[in-house]
Amino acid sequence: MGTFATDIAAIRKRAREKLEMGAVTQNYGGDVKTAIALLNEAVATEIVCVLRYKYHAVAATGIASESVKEEFAQHAKEEEQHLDWLSERINQLGGKPNLNPDGVASRAASQYAEGENLVDMIRENLVAERIAIEHYRDLIRYFGDKDPTTRTLLERVLAQEEEHANDMHDLLVAHEGRPMLKK
Ligand SMILES: [Fe+2]
Ligand SMILES: [Fe+2]
Repeated sequence: MGTFATDIAAIRKRAREKLEMGAVTQNYGGDVKTAIALLNEAVATEIVCVLRYKYHAVAATGIASESVKEEFAQHAKEEEQHLDWLSERINQLGGKPNLNPDGVASRAASQYAEGENLVDMIRENLVAERIAIEHYRDLIRYFGDKDPTTRTLLERVLAQEEEHANDMHDLLVAHEGRPMLKK
């Protein structure tokens, strides 16, 4: 057996104290305020991503745009799911998700770009996904083992952003008609 030892009596005592903290216990490894602020930046990023994909799902025109529109719409739904997961987590940590439309764009890492044509739209989405991927990777490193639940959630989101980026990359290749460098 290892040396893992825990004082159950002390844990039971602490569990009865500070009930207003909900899921946040005394051994929460991070700083709750910072965690909430970081997650709210991700919330803003996801809002921008939902709106951008929704706009593209409606505005895309041209030959062969139907399947692309469907892909945009599907991504919009998944970005909304990310928004919901992040908001739930902020709530669990005792914070408020910042869904105030004022200042969303400036709080977000990703950008709202309409794009002039189908290829532009696809490219803007690929750029946005790459921004999201880099941002989530940094957040995952930050949360590390300070807050495994938040880290695991962010890992789940990151995996989907990577799928999104790959989808956009493949669409760009298909619609630009020239292969991009892929190792
Ligand atoms: Fe997302
Ligand atoms: Fe995404």
